[in-house]
Amino acid sequence: MITRFGDARDWFFEKRFGMFVHWGLYALPAWHEQILWRGEITRREYETLPGQFNPVSYDPERWLDAAESAGMEYLCFTTKHHDGFCMWDTQETDYNVMNTPYGRDVLAMLADACERRGILLCLYYSLPDWHHRNYPNQGRHHEMFGPRPGDEPDAGAYLEFVRRQVRELLTGYGPIHAFFWDVNVAELHDPSINDMIRELQPQALINDRGPGPGDYSTPERHVPPGHGFAAPTEACQSMGRESWGYRADEDYYSRLFLMQSVDRILAMGGNYLLNVGPMADGTLPKECVDSLERIGRWYEKVSESFRGTVPASHMLTATETHLFRYDDVLLTRRDNTFYVHAPAALHTGGIVLDGLDHEPESVVLLNDGRRLDWTIDVIPWRWKQRPCLRLRNLPVDEISDEVLVARIEFGHRPAE
Ligand code: GLC
Repeated sequence: MITRFGDARDWFFEKRFGMFVHWGLYALPAWHEQILWRGEITRREYETLPGQFNPVSYDPERWLDAAESAGMEYLCFTTKHHDGFCMWDTQETDYNVMNTPYGRDVLAMLADACERRGILLCLYYSLPDWHHRNYPNQGRHHEMFGPRPGDEPDAGAYLEFVRRQVRELLTGYGPIHAFFWDVNVAELHDPSINDMIRELQPQALINDRGPGPGDYSTPERHVPPGHGFAAPTEACQSMGRESWGYRADEDYYSRLFLMQSVDRILAMGGNYLLNVGPMADGTLPKECVDSLERIGRWYEKVSESFRGTVPASHMLTATETHLFRYDDVLLTRRDNTFYVHAPAALHTGGIVLDGLDHEPESVVLLNDGRRLDWTIDVIPWRWKQRPCLRLRNLPVDEISDEVLVARIEFGHRPAE
């Protein structure tokens, strides 16, 4: 069981599904947000990109439409990625969005739209900085190969710059609900910056990639082993396989894969941040908009299985011991109501819930509202075990493009 914070940060346990947005100069070459490190472009060339940044079709309301269509309730925006380019009107460097043909504070526009809609805003900020003269680039991973002429590597001075920028971000853009530091390659250590965040925005959670201890972990593009999390967790995943920033010829994940991934993490008690990379004109790729809408139609039907529930998969024994014979299913529960999740394709139309042996009052498939049959049986494969609850006739061939979730109501509370 995850212990809650007991303060304003507990919004995190109510709003579980969010949108990650990676947007910056890297949308122009449209290859990967780290093109400067991974790709064939020089720093000199990259630093001419602000002259071309003019997202005339940027309208944050459209991003929020897409987020809401998926059922997302918060949004995390890249204020500064590793390239060091700042997407707000910062006083700390000229390398920012005001010095582009567009010349508008895109973060301010987004913050206003979020506040109007009641979508909670969170901010991403990269510690590596491939532009700032004080960042100690040494050619480690996610770093430039070394200082260039005129640079003055100085971790202390860099951290003071970071502190001033973080203060700008947390004082100029309304309520901020999480601060998402990224990859602390240089292992910069200064917990007083996190203390400042807590003082300025007490409802903001801080992740574990920053200069001091944080509140939650951020597994990226993978599902940690087990059936639940011991501490607050927010998994993140991009809609495309290769990049977080817009990639022109991206291989997008299938909608089913993304639903499976969202379902598994939420059923384990985590939060899920699903990333989109807007294009250089400010609009979202059609593939993302369409998939978010499809995921949202599913999420709306099954989201009651995540709201106010706790992971209960530890009550199942069959999935642990007979993974290949039985299905990979997860359980969530709210009092006497249980939800069975099938985040991987079911092998048959029957789910064996070894570990539960009470007669339910009803079993309903949330995907289409149909009632499901059930039995309490001794299973031939487990003939020496106690009888257990078996759900019957799930429409595995009929509904194969979304994750199946069933609600089981018991008349009284099954024993733990
Ligand atoms: C990784 C990548 C970075 C991306 C981040 C999102 O750390 O280096 O480009 O922004 O993941 O979590």
